[in-house]
Amino acid sequence: MNDLEVKGQPQLRVGSHVLVQLGSELVTDVEQAILECVKNSYDADSPGCRIDIDTREQGSVVGTGPASALLRFSAPAENVAVSFSRADGKPFDLLTFDSDDQIVRKLAYTGIVSVEDTGDGLDEEQLKNTWLVISGSKKRSPNGPKAKTAKGRTPLGDKGVGRLGTMRLGDILVIETAKSPEAKLARAIFRWGDCEAAETVDQIPVNVTTLDNNKGFKGTKVSVLGLRDLAEWRKPNRGEAIARSLARLISPFEATSTFPVAITVDDVDHSLVAVTNDVLSRAIATFDFKWVSDAQGSSRLEAKARFRKSLLAGNKSVRQTLKTELAFGADGGKAFHESLTKIGRLRGYEIKPYKENAPWFIELDQSFTWSEIIAKQDEAQEDPGPFTGVFNYFHLTDLGDDTGSYWNYGHAQAREGHGGHLDPAGRLSGALSWRLAQHGFGDDFRKHLRSARRQHFGILRSDR
Ligand SMILES: Nc1ncnc2c1ncn2[C@@H]1O[C@H](COP(=O)(O)OP(=O)(O)OP(=O)(O)O)[C@@H](O)[C@H]1O
Ligand SMILES: [Mg+2]
Repeated sequence: MNDLEVKGQPQLRVGSHVLVQLGSELVTDVEQAILECVKNSYDADSPGCRIDIDTREQGSVVGTGPASALLRFSAPAENVAVSFSRADGKPFDLLTFDSDDQIVRKLAYTGIVSVEDTGDGLDEEQLKNTWLVISGSKKRSPNGPKAKTAKGRTPLGDKGVGRLGTMRLGDILVIETAKSPEAKLARAIFRWGDCEAAETVDQIPVNVTTLDNNKGFKGTKVSVLGLRDLAEWRKPNRGEAIARSLARLISPFEATSTFPVAITVDDVDHSLVAVTNDVLSRAIATFDFKWVSDAQGSSRLEAKARFRKSLLAGNKSVRQTLKTELAFGADGGKAFHESLTKIGRLRGYEIKPYKENAPWFIELDQSFTWSEIIAKQDEAQEDPGPFTGVFNYFHLTDLGDDTGSYWNYGHAQAREGHGGHLDPAGRLSGALSWRLAQHGFGDDFRKHLRSARRQHFGILRSDR
């Protein structure tokens, strides 16, 4: 190529429609949009977060600026009305205004969704340098794994675009944040509706202010004002439905033990913990395990298995119905239960005696000493330290994925032990429940469960 001569300083600019494209491709539904905010709260080391949805709230956001800059942003949005007046109080006339005149734009909105946490928060500079920089993310690590947070969490985000998902929820985006109860409150406001009217992203009006932190707030509150699809939000049981889908997206492990998420819709509470407990109580089998060390320093794994009658009973085929009748028909399963205790493979397990109408049909307990578990006696082994875990299994018949097979279910979950750490198997199952939720109980997960069954307790190891 010949030599090229370069003159002048034209710039590459970013058309503001790109934000709308990114945001709408990023999240396809309101649950995902809310979840992006929840993930940010988790990444900010918040102990939990609360989501408040109020379809009735009405209010306004008022901004002042020169007519030349503000007037073009006049498009209303769903549940946001736009009106203009002169800042000096004189009558506003569209035909006679001067482009330098200060005008007031009022956005009157209906409906709000807010996600509030008590995490690290941001100061004004950080707000400008992170929240207001699209695709900027401090969580990204160019080489190697992402740096953990002060609380030891691996950040869920790193692309720097998650907050764009909020445009699914509504029009006006407000973030209020403070790093400590003593610090000032930093606030930024802009509206998605302005993206269409602005040619390039830098033209979108953004208001950043510092306010007195009268309530001593620490953390971050992201609010979306002027909701899209208000009728949809107001549908009966909407709150419960959102809580349920979020519970599917957020692993129950996080929701119950390490990251509680509360939701209210028009002041009605829909706790994720309650949803999760409800889901967990439907398990047809659970395997609980607990690592116990006694004062003498000897350790053992206490394992409990619980099976419901519904795991063994069925009526999907004539054969199954006959078998169920044989096992449970005459005496509710008493004789069948007693026969189980005589099966050779169950020797060594402590089997709870049969009890009519007990919540679990079979309850088995077993204790494994350290020396029984370790694979090779000649290799140095490290005691993993205290942990607890539980695998919960479900029939997925109501999820339209019913082949009637025993393995046609799946949920794995693990909890952190008291004062202990999460064992690798726990982390594995925590990650799995995410995958499970995201892929809709996919084949991968079922494959894993099969192999987990084969490995049994072999997957438990310590990283300490
Ligand atoms: N609740 C919050 N508390 C503190 N900082 C936050 C919060 N929400 C967002 N931020 C800041 O804003 C940035 C942008 O958030 P956003 O979700 O868009 O991107 P990300 O989390 O970095 O990556 P991803 O797009 O993968 O979610 C974050 O990196 C973080 O610095
Ligand atoms: Mg994020």
